[in-house]
Amino acid sequence: MATDATPNASSESALPALELKGLSKSFGGLHAVRGVTFKLMPGDRKAIIGPNGAGKTTLFNLITGIFPSSSGQVLLYGRDVTAWSSHRRTALGMARTFQVTHLFPKLTVLDNVLLAIKGLRPSKYVMWRFMSSYPDVYEKAHGLLERAQFMDRKDTEVRFLSHGEQRQLEIVLGLASDPKILLLDEPAAGLSSGESVEMSEFLQGLDPKLAILLIEHDMDVVFDVASNISVLHFGEMLESGPAEQIRQSAKVREIYLGTE
Ligand SMILES: Nc1ncnc2c1ncn2[C@@H]1O[C@H](COP(=O)(O)OP(=O)(O)O)[C@@H](O)[C@H]1O
Ligand SMILES: [Mg+2]
Repeated sequence: MATDATPNASSESALPALELKGLSKSFGGLHAVRGVTFKLMPGDRKAIIGPNGAGKTTLFNLITGIFPSSSGQVLLYGRDVTAWSSHRRTALGMARTFQVTHLFPKLTVLDNVLLAIKGLRPSKYVMWRFMSSYPDVYEKAHGLLERAQFMDRKDTEVRFLSHGEQRQLEIVLGLASDPKILLLDEPAAGLSSGESVEMSEFLQGLDPKLAILLIEHDMDVVFDVASNISVLHFGEMLESGPAEQIRQSAKVREIYLGTE
């Protein structure tokens, strides 16, 4: 495991990995996210649920800096990053997966990981071949694939993986930047029920020190992975609490779980 040479590593662990204070976003007259306050501690596993259009993806876009917020603050390890670019936030230890696939289907699993580690695109093929001859890049790729239990498929072209395996591999690529916070936007979307179970197991097998914030519609995945759930409704945090409390909440059932 990587040794953390940061001098304030111990004080960092007492701070929330991610904190949102009164975060809001309007698109013209539409208040997509309204005054969201939220904390994610190191190693926390939390989920955000809510009906379509509730503002979940917008909230991720505010956290990652893809959209500027209309008001409120985003803090990473106590640092106000509200005005920071997406790139600078990533450098502080945040990774995100998207609903659209970012994999290169005709390259092998290992090649996809190597490219992710070096942040390269296949168009820089020559550069990549050069880079991949460095043992440290290979070592890191192998480490990532081993921890994700993908070594048996490292030479498989991505297009021959199942849809579920491809979604897992996307998360492995997200881990290439050694994030401390992982944001997952519907990782089980479009998966069969068997693949969703495998996704749950895969997520539960990730490094326990990694903080995970999960947006997910598949409630089995939510209850398997997250210990704490927040419900977003018309851009507002309607209720937050332990998974069991949310499961039993009449209000939540009415607006969300009941609609399944
Ligand atoms: N870039 C955008 N421009 C205008 N409206 C948007 C934009 N992104 C999202 N919205 C609107 O914000 C609301 C919340 O959307 P979204 O965050 O995608 O919801 P969810 O992910 O919970 O389904 C929706 O009404 C959506 O139409
Ligand atoms: Mg969404």
